[in-house]
Amino acid sequence: MTATSTPASNRPAGAIRHGSSIGQPLTRRDGPLKVTGQARFSADNLPPGTLHAALCVARIARGRVTGLDVAAAEAHPGVVAVMRPGHAPALAKDPDAKDGPFTFRLDLLQNDRVRYANQPIAVVIAETLEAATEGARLLAPTYAAETPRIGLDSGEAFTPDSVGVGAPPVETDGDVEAGLAAASKTIAATYETPAQYHNAMEPHAAVASWDGDRLTLLMPTQALAMSQARLAGLFGIRPEDIHIDSPYLGGGFGSKGVPAGPQVLACMAAKLVGRPVKLVPTRTQMYGPMGHRGPTRQTIRLGADAAGKLTALDHHIRTASSSFDDFFEPAGRATSTLYASPAIAIRHEAVRLDTGTPLFMRAPGEATGSVALESALDEMAFALGMDPLEFRLANYAEVEPITGKPFSSKALRDCYRRGAEAFGWAGRPLQPRQTRDRDGFLVGTGMGTATFPALIFEGMARAEIRADGTGTVELGAIDMGQGSWTALAQIAADGLGIGMDALTFRMGSSDLPNAGIAGGSGHTATAGGAIHAAAADVIRQLAELATNDPASPLYGAGNAGVTAADGRLTRRDDPGRSESVTDILKRAGRASIEGQGKAGADPAAQASYAMHAHGAVFAEVKVDPDLGQIRVSRLTGAFAAGRVINPRLVQSQYYGGMIWGLSFALHERAEMDPRTGRFLNDNLAEYHVPVNADVPAMEAILVHEDDAVVNALGVKGVGEIGITGTVGAIANAVWHATGVRVREMPITLDKLL
Ligand code: MOS
Repeated sequence: MTATSTPASNRPAGAIRHGSSIGQPLTRRDGPLKVTGQARFSADNLPPGTLHAALCVARIARGRVTGLDVAAAEAHPGVVAVMRPGHAPALAKDPDAKDGPFTFRLDLLQNDRVRYANQPIAVVIAETLEAATEGARLLAPTYAAETPRIGLDSGEAFTPDSVGVGAPPVETDGDVEAGLAAASKTIAATYETPAQYHNAMEPHAAVASWDGDRLTLLMPTQALAMSQARLAGLFGIRPEDIHIDSPYLGGGFGSKGVPAGPQVLACMAAKLVGRPVKLVPTRTQMYGPMGHRGPTRQTIRLGADAAGKLTALDHHIRTASSSFDDFFEPAGRATSTLYASPAIAIRHEAVRLDTGTPLFMRAPGEATGSVALESALDEMAFALGMDPLEFRLANYAEVEPITGKPFSSKALRDCYRRGAEAFGWAGRPLQPRQTRDRDGFLVGTGMGTATFPALIFEGMARAEIRADGTGTVELGAIDMGQGSWTALAQIAADGLGIGMDALTFRMGSSDLPNAGIAGGSGHTATAGGAIHAAAADVIRQLAELATNDPASPLYGAGNAGVTAADGRLTRRDDPGRSESVTDILKRAGRASIEGQGKAGADPAAQASYAMHAHGAVFAEVKVDPDLGQIRVSRLTGAFAAGRVINPRLVQSQYYGGMIWGLSFALHERAEMDPRTGRFLNDNLAEYHVPVNADVPAMEAILVHEDDAVVNALGVKGVGEIGITGTVGAIANAVWHATGVRVREMPITLDKLL
């Protein structure tokens, strides 16, 4: 039942040079499986005897469930059980108990309380999906509803203990009020970003089966070991007795970073009925229990002197969490790292709303915060009569603001220059509403700086090389679409010094070494770093065999060391002397050598250096002067994120990020009825995301950046940064086209007229 199609490791689709896979623009090794339907996603599995489960979700946002017509549901042909409070397997742990920053409180039918709209309140298990769905409908819940708190003006604001995952809610450096008083120009403006939903194409499906106290779970997750630990705690079993298969994800964007309540409910349902259970939430049911990006209202105050140097940067953020948990969008994070100012103050406050708990969603914090920051920078540049790029260069942070740490690397000036050249930024009029195209559309351009921290988590990997010259690398890494199957295999092949065709690469299962979370744009650094270390362990052992053996051409290489490529080890001090892996192992009478490796943050480097990726995004928009319709006509991004493992995949990540930024700027907004707390657009017809026709000519430039400090591979993350500069760039371009400054995202035509 764990049989899943995995990419044929010996058939890379792109041309490669043996021994130098890193840096090659290989196409996705899992691509052919996906486009031919052979890749088996979690919901594609149906083990023998599997029952189907359907969620019944709350249609109020706050209150209690007073009745469920269980008899009606049970009487429906095919219905096997109705799981509900009082009729559900006992849990070993209160799902509201916290045991770390990545524990999110879950709604698992422990009581009749409703904390948000679309909260699961019962699960109907049946022989068919149709019977389960009809059974859930027949439950016809009744409620005692209370007035929900919806919107940032509801409820008391307070300062949270932390924002994001353990970030400080308040950061200050210098005296902002004095800086504003001393400024020759000041601006103050308030920007709003709405609640947004991840909307991964694949829902949080789960196929669960129990064998005694052992659980097998086929479900998409961005973090195998963390999911194991969370489920082990809830069910009172050992993590190693939980087997999770997650070979492919149809997107995650943060929402699959922790197990979602409905995935746990699938496990409970399987336990209740003693048969495998498959639960696939509907699109609507994804709005509520799966996390979202919380709304923000951000006020920025800037002061600048006559020369265009910032004298003060003040960023106040009001955001929201749920009534029962504590994740807050850390929208001030980019402000602490991007621009030099003698005085900086960042303050987050939050309100508790009757919504599902917000969660990390692609560039959590940086995406929302940079909307306000990059728009405010543009407003100040105009007030000063300066070009927006010149203004940013005038306030370039040579060291990280607030901490004063040097950057491990920062090629942002190159990003500005390369991006501006490719886009044709020079000569742009400073005044808005100056340009029309031949169709009469207003044309404007704008830019924004992109930034995201270079993170690394703990990860482990196992590697093996065999006497026939082939190798295996395996770890519990995750591909949610970003290309891990390919990029990590490239690191593995180079690490072992073999070609991709000689490599067996395994990932996506909790039975493999814990490779940490695929999140925070840190998976290549983490999983790739672990692979690099495991392969190095193999090569070290091989080298020891050879350099101590007088019969080897490598004998005596000692400290000079060896390099591994093309299935051979070669003396560094004498490239003419080399020996094949096969010969080394055969002479030693060994069939194979196995190695282990791990990756993690280096505390000394973290204490000494600030580590971030950077970029510059330039946008051109065209606006219909009569109808207000906005088209992004060009997007150019130039990004520096350390070493590039696979330029094709990295470019795709930047494209994806920039399209997400376009979506943020012009399309996405979750609408809730303020009276009921229910969603008005919990579907992909009414929650707008861009389609191909919305996406313009795009260019993503990979700017060279060497970083010897950030991690063993010198890579920074590329998954999230593309969003961060893009939203502001588009907002600034809309202003430049029209002269109308829209400070509330998304920018829709009604706000321009
Ligand atoms: Mo990302 S929001 O860290 O999956």
